[in-house]
Amino acid sequence: MAMKITVIGLGYLGTTHAVAMAKVGHQVIGIEPNQHRIDCLVQGKAGFFEPGLDEELAAQLATGRLAFKQAHDEFSRDADIHFICVGTPQTAGSMAADTSYLESAIRDVALYLREDALVVGKSTVPVGTASKLTAQLAQDTGFTAPNLAWNPEFLREGTALEDSLNPDRLVVGVTNSRSEELLREVFAPMISAGVPFLVTDLATAELVKAAANAFLATKISFINAMAEIAEVSGADATQLANAIGYDERIGNKFLRNGVGFGGGCLPKDIRALIARAEELGVGESVSYLHEIDKINLRRRDRVIALLTKELGSLQAKKILILGAAFKPDSDDVRDSPALGIALLAKAAGAEVIVHDPVALHGVALKHPELELQQDLLKAFIGVDAVVLATEWKEYRELDPKSVNPGNKFIIDGRNVLDVALWQQAGFKVLALGRTITN
Ligand code: UGA
Repeated sequence: MAMKITVIGLGYLGTTHAVAMAKVGHQVIGIEPNQHRIDCLVQGKAGFFEPGLDEELAAQLATGRLAFKQAHDEFSRDADIHFICVGTPQTAGSMAADTSYLESAIRDVALYLREDALVVGKSTVPVGTASKLTAQLAQDTGFTAPNLAWNPEFLREGTALEDSLNPDRLVVGVTNSRSEELLREVFAPMISAGVPFLVTDLATAELVKAAANAFLATKISFINAMAEIAEVSGADATQLANAIGYDERIGNKFLRNGVGFGGGCLPKDIRALIARAEELGVGESVSYLHEIDKINLRRRDRVIALLTKELGSLQAKKILILGAAFKPDSDDVRDSPALGIALLAKAAGAEVIVHDPVALHGVALKHPELELQQDLLKAFIGVDAVVLATEWKEYRELDPKSVNPGNKFIIDGRNVLDVALWQQAGFKVLALGRTITN
């Protein structure tokens, strides 16, 4: 049955969730204090690059089931569920997550919350946050036992809408049967399509998300650690990943070695887990995550070392970085390995040119010191070295004979190029985690 819901915080997560909830038939109001975001959303523009999202946003606006507002109003008093999707960024000067946006979202919703309605947190949080927010909500509303649940989100950028509509699993942390009933009702279309629905307590639901991202980061850094060994021993980490992946207990997903992981989630989430575990007095349990972070960042240094070996000093050398986004099909440059490499090369004295099919606008604002080039063929002209740092389709399918660098030298930072093809076009090709004979 269609329910009335609000979605609070319209960033990546909230926008996608609001659209997905409208698509499955609910009446949805998205709430976001930033007027500029509202102006953009009401025109059917998500405001970030996510394949298929703008089209679905416009379609849902047209049904009348989806609308956006700057603040709560009478609709919120009628709403059965309020989903909180605000950001929990890394706190400046610390590894911990900043939960202040959640606290203010709770304060705001408390003024409109019915006693039988449910508040559901979706943001990624340190374990223990939901129970603190429940206490805050009780104080702000005067209800003895307000309904607050946690429902972590596992969507990936680039496939966000599809992941929201057809998740691998739904995890809900609840404290009473009323909350579980409401969540079963709101997710009924997914549950009846066979999506596993896992009911836990609040702390477990919070920790499931942190653990999932820590595991994914660990898988990537594991294969990148093997890549470091492969590089000095003559082994091939790509073949190695393929070979170990045949063991079903290991699996072959998330074992692509290269310049490492980035984005708004994996790096910040492992740091937040370290910080929370330390606060809880069990820092040792995840101290290995420090190494996961370090292995990841060392991959960027490896690219700089390869460039330096090839070019001598990087001083005044022209280096083209292919990619700025942290992964393809996204314009997100947060903690992007590609951008990290560009900045390291710049710091080493190189003249750095960055190309990306969609993410340059975000780079221009933050890093005016980098030269940006939107035209891929022009970007190659006269450069001394090329680094493929984000595996966009445009780069994977590029005909190396169509480009005109000053020096034909490319580092495949994602192990996606057809090496023989590039070599036939006269390029010297180096890659991470394997030795290529040129
Ligand atoms: C990640 C998780 O995969 C989602 O499940 C989670 O919901 C999301 O964080 C979140 O917490 O919101 P996302 O940040 O969109 O999703 O990106 P991923 O697909 O996980 O990729 C992360 C990074 O790892 C990218 O930089 C990617 O290039 C890199 N990666 C991925 C590798 O270097 N090797 C691999 O084998 C896979």
